[in-house]
Amino acid sequence: MTAASPDRRRFLTAGAAVLGAAASAQLWLPGTARAAGTPLPDGVFTLGVSSGDPLPDGIVLWTRLAPDPLNGGGMPDEVFPVEWELAEDERFHRSVCRGTAQARPEFGHSVHVDVRGLRPDRPYWYRFRAGGQLSPAGRTRTAPHPHQRGGSLRVALASCQNWQHGYFTPYADMLAQDPDVVLFVGDYIYESAPSSTAVRRHEGKGEPYTLEQYRNRYAQYRTDPDLAAMHANAPWVVTFDDHEVDNDWAGEIPQDPDKQSHDAFVARLTAAFQAYYEHMPVRAFAIPTGPHIQMYRRLEFGRLARLNVLDTRQFRSDQATTQEGAESPSMTMLGAEQKQWLLDGLHDSPARWNLIASQIMMAETDLLPGDGKLWYYDAWDGYQAERNALLEEFAGIRNPVVLSGDRHLTMISDLREDFADPDSDVVGAEFVGTSISTNGDQDQDAFHAQWDPLKADNPHWKVIDAHRGYHLFDIRCDGVDAAVRVVDTVVRPQATASTLARLRVETDEPGVQVV
Ligand SMILES: [Fe+2]
Repeated sequence: MTAASPDRRRFLTAGAAVLGAAASAQLWLPGTARAAGTPLPDGVFTLGVSSGDPLPDGIVLWTRLAPDPLNGGGMPDEVFPVEWELAEDERFHRSVCRGTAQARPEFGHSVHVDVRGLRPDRPYWYRFRAGGQLSPAGRTRTAPHPHQRGGSLRVALASCQNWQHGYFTPYADMLAQDPDVVLFVGDYIYESAPSSTAVRRHEGKGEPYTLEQYRNRYAQYRTDPDLAAMHANAPWVVTFDDHEVDNDWAGEIPQDPDKQSHDAFVARLTAAFQAYYEHMPVRAFAIPTGPHIQMYRRLEFGRLARLNVLDTRQFRSDQATTQEGAESPSMTMLGAEQKQWLLDGLHDSPARWNLIASQIMMAETDLLPGDGKLWYYDAWDGYQAERNALLEEFAGIRNPVVLSGDRHLTMISDLREDFADPDSDVVGAEFVGTSISTNGDQDQDAFHAQWDPLKADNPHWKVIDAHRGYHLFDIRCDGVDAAVRVVDTVVRPQATASTLARLRVETDEPGVQVV
């Protein structure tokens, strides 16, 4: 199929149409953006461009018009057309398709274009134009053909980027490593109030509660240059954890129900999810309905890998407060519907590797040295019955690998069928991918003094570490090679990166080995 064939132009879906993207291609000419009406303010592309959720034939392109990003965006309260173009080369000589989307005030003047009709497993370049202003160009990549068995996939696993704790320096190294896709598993923003002692201070005057406040917080994070560059150079697959809304929330229950009424928290969820959608390169299925957003979903990378992206916040029971509570069979992390969806997707999978993007850690963390156990109740340890049932299922699933965040530590573990029995079967591997900046430059001696004594109680841990960074995976048929990439600092805008550890997961041999 050639780039100019008619099929190549079936690039718009119902999803894009929801946001008003034009259903026909237009010429990429200057001056076509707006013939009359309120002029567009200068400098609308302050938040850059990004792409996400790659399909074999499609990709989501994103931008948001925001000439005054930290003050509500600065756009007039009107709809503005935004032209977009996608090409096979970075100079846009071989244009593949183009069109016009509508930047609407009710979506914060964000634009999501769901381009279809593309070729599998190849790079594309894209850009936007509004009112004669040209966006930076972005590069993206489609997923492999559904039947493709071989090849390789390079995935970067990131989470937890606290603006106030540091610069997002790991992304500069990630850019150099050139991943095919970035998987972000939560805490894209932090909702904490501005601190005068922070490395960089949050915008605003307190925690965000309203849509405009969340928009300003997301916009501030999007201005980090390393984050913006990484968004513009590879597609992202995202899911949220707690800090996109409120620390440790569960369903419609906030961290502190005594301070936030149910109605107030529902309004907060509604605002937070709206702003999340507006700032993420996700399909129209993720347009929120009030205080609900659809985020769990599957992405396929040929026959090599199936990626199950979980939502471990909206459907969970409120956190336990005791060990006995954590063991109650009534506790659910996923909710019945999502749990069945996950099991179906694992058992029916045609893929060699079955990846599970879980915001929170699945392997056990026993915090009590010696006899007995003490768990973190916000992680899978607090939902023992459902976690253990899932691990039992892993024994019948091909190459399950869990990719998590939340802990602000690298924690790489064998997943055992029963953590109460150290001799039980290893059924999978888990990588908890430290943090981009959260917790800042941690005191390594203090970390080891606190955590090394716990290693004997947690023999499934293969690597634990407190440097900031991310994990990089080269996934092939015969195994997954993983590298823990860390930076020497996040308190300055530039850092030196290095490989802290290399690991390997062999195909059809559950567990992970330090290389
Ligand atoms: Fe976090």
